[in-house]
Amino acid sequence: MSQTVMFRSACRLLCVLVVVCSFATGARARSLDNGLAKTPPMGWNSWNKFGCNVSEKLIKEMTDALVSMGMRDAGYQYVVIDDCWQVGRDAQGNIIADPQRFPSGMKALADYVHSKGLKFGLYSDAGTLTCQKRPGGRGYEFQDARQYAAWGVDYLKYDWCSTGTQNQQASYSIMRDALAKAGRPIVFSICEWGTSKPWTWARDVGNLWRTTGDIQDCWDCKRDWGGMGFVHILDLQDGLEAYAGPGHWNDPDMLEVGNGGMTATEYRAHFSLWCVLAAPLMAGNDIRQMTPETAEILTNREVIAVDQDPLGMQGRRVKREGDSDVWARQLSDGGRAVALLNRGIAPAKVSVSWNEIGYPAHLSASVRDLWAKKDLGKHTGSFSADVPAHGVVLVRVEP
Ligand code: GAL
Repeated sequence: MSQTVMFRSACRLLCVLVVVCSFATGARARSLDNGLAKTPPMGWNSWNKFGCNVSEKLIKEMTDALVSMGMRDAGYQYVVIDDCWQVGRDAQGNIIADPQRFPSGMKALADYVHSKGLKFGLYSDAGTLTCQKRPGGRGYEFQDARQYAAWGVDYLKYDWCSTGTQNQQASYSIMRDALAKAGRPIVFSICEWGTSKPWTWARDVGNLWRTTGDIQDCWDCKRDWGGMGFVHILDLQDGLEAYAGPGHWNDPDMLEVGNGGMTATEYRAHFSLWCVLAAPLMAGNDIRQMTPETAEILTNREVIAVDQDPLGMQGRRVKREGDSDVWARQLSDGGRAVALLNRGIAPAKVSVSWNEIGYPAHLSASVRDLWAKKDLGKHTGSFSADVPAHGVVLVRVEP
């Protein structure tokens, strides 16, 4: 090879490298870096209990209740209006909030929520219509994002109805870019029900992504349209743990705690497992009139601390034996949160060995029951507990 030919080949290679590198840098520059949701978002959302029956009055009352019931102080932050707040677009394409139900407008409502030390969220959809046939965001992404920012929106849940042949990653990336351009920090919640395995691509697009169809207020029911009860959703989280971390979370859907379809024992299991999964904790009940039992579940600080652990490591199933499951999560202090779950209809003894949670068998570790709020002393090698039917024992293990 002559020197000139070698020189030309080297130049070509350099050229290719420069192009490849600039693409790579460009891709990084476009990735989600909004600094939000370093721990899983917590708040309240209107859908599970109220469906389309949303109004300014309801949202204000719920905001007040978050404060008076101690939920805000326990960490719940975002007040999110789900579907049905929007009724159309004006001649300029601006999205219009229902003037009957929200007579003071969204800016005033956001101001109210902010004045109580909370944050404000809205719902829209990546397609032409929302799931309840209200106007969607397709084609209006930048205009809507500017409007949300001007209203003072802090959280956007973005659904996947009426999307035809749209591509999930492309559609959600447009809204991600629109929100970034709007200049206000807005948590971006992707809701396409796990259809395109968002855990494989959404880390750079959203702060959280739904992993399944809609949760139902039942232990293990299944609806023909894809809705499902607690244990079915739980089973679908197995294996997704590697994809979650600070700023980007798997979302197994909102909480049903307090909505009446399950017993308090079952709701404790639902809440515990969501915390071991590092799931977003969006309460979905009427918090104005909670029973003390419901309030106690939703505001148990030691359990919430598991969910909000700063390491942000999602728990995983370490054992399944018949009706017994063990799910465990590593915590930032080297401890473990362990959920002993009894899926059966009779009480059962469920046990976990230290090996199963990554500890040596000879280790003596202290165990604390987070629902009983009781220290259970030192244990070496394993721990077992009697777990009620459809129930959980949630412990914190500290070496
Ligand atoms: C569903 C979504 C629900 C709720 C509902 C509103 O697609 O999964 O969480 O937002 O739409 O219509």
